[in-house]
Amino acid sequence: MSGFNVRSVLVTGANRGIGLEIVKQILGKSNPPEWVFATCRDPEGAQELKNLASTHPNLVIVVLEVTDPASIKAAAARVEEHLKGSGLNLLINNAAVLKLNTLEFETPEDMSLLYATNVTGTLLVSQAFLLLLKKAAQECPQKEMSCCKAALVNMSSEAGSIQNVLIWNMGQFISYRCSKAALNMLTKCQSLVYGDYGILCIAVHPGWVQTDMGISISPEAPLTVDASVQGILNMLPSLSEKDNGAFVNWEGKVVPW
Ligand SMILES: NC(=O)c1ccc[n+]([C@@H]2O[C@H](COP(=O)([O-])OP(=O)(O)OC[C@H]3O[C@@H](n4cnc5c(N)ncnc54)[C@H](OP(=O)(O)O)[C@@H]3O)[C@@H](O)[C@H]2O)c1
Repeated sequence: MSGFNVRSVLVTGANRGIGLEIVKQILGKSNPPEWVFATCRDPEGAQELKNLASTHPNLVIVVLEVTDPASIKAAAARVEEHLKGSGLNLLINNAAVLKLNTLEFETPEDMSLLYATNVTGTLLVSQAFLLLLKKAAQECPQKEMSCCKAALVNMSSEAGSIQNVLIWNMGQFISYRCSKAALNMLTKCQSLVYGDYGILCIAVHPGWVQTDMGISISPEAPLTVDASVQGILNMLPSLSEKDNGAFVNWEGKVVPW
């Protein structure tokens, strides 16, 4: 990850799974960011984050419930306070939920919950941090778009790819697939608007990963969290203007919509 030269990064849903591993690996870099904001719903219960914070003064744990606009607003204010006038380079919208359900038994409650969390949550968090992302884009001397300048990374899923419908044989999980297809469209729209401010927007499929979510589908989830996140963090610095609005996997390969 030699090109990963980011001054500040924020990761949502960072108390476990892929989000926690992103925080761990970023902090472990030889040139870690000045600020790493790890958000979670329950900081008290986030023991691994608390342990990391005790040895990494650049790690700030921020409470953030992505379905609660007041919580999002408070988190953005807290981050702004820490940044003391500078911008936020990298926002990783990672928090999400999955419900295992079939077309026959899918419920309005789960359809609403997954849309609220995986789509509207991402929309609201991005809106709340937009000013800080814009500021990072403006203060960066480099002209080219990049993850080091200002970027919005939405953790999507190939399960939401209409062409590939990944692992359909393992489960239908309709609300999840629909929410990630909608998240992909949101990412494309964000790239069209935020791209004009110099903010690179991208949807990333992390692979089928051995996290609580990945294993809930099947214990056969093939990818370790470590390998997925290593791939993502190696791939991000290689992205540029031509990738704005794209849907890529953890290896940087384009995923069909
Ligand atoms: N694992 C896979 O195979 C896989 C495949 C494709 C895409 N993805 C995507 O990768 C991302 C990370 O997944 P993961 O496997 O690490 O999942 P995970 O282990 O289930 O972790 C999900 C994280 O999201 C947080 N979260 C859920 N609802 C939230 C809310 N309303 N507000 C704030 N935080 C919330 C959780 O917090 P709590 O601990 O408080 O619940 C947790 O930190 C997700 O976007 C997922 O869709 C995963």
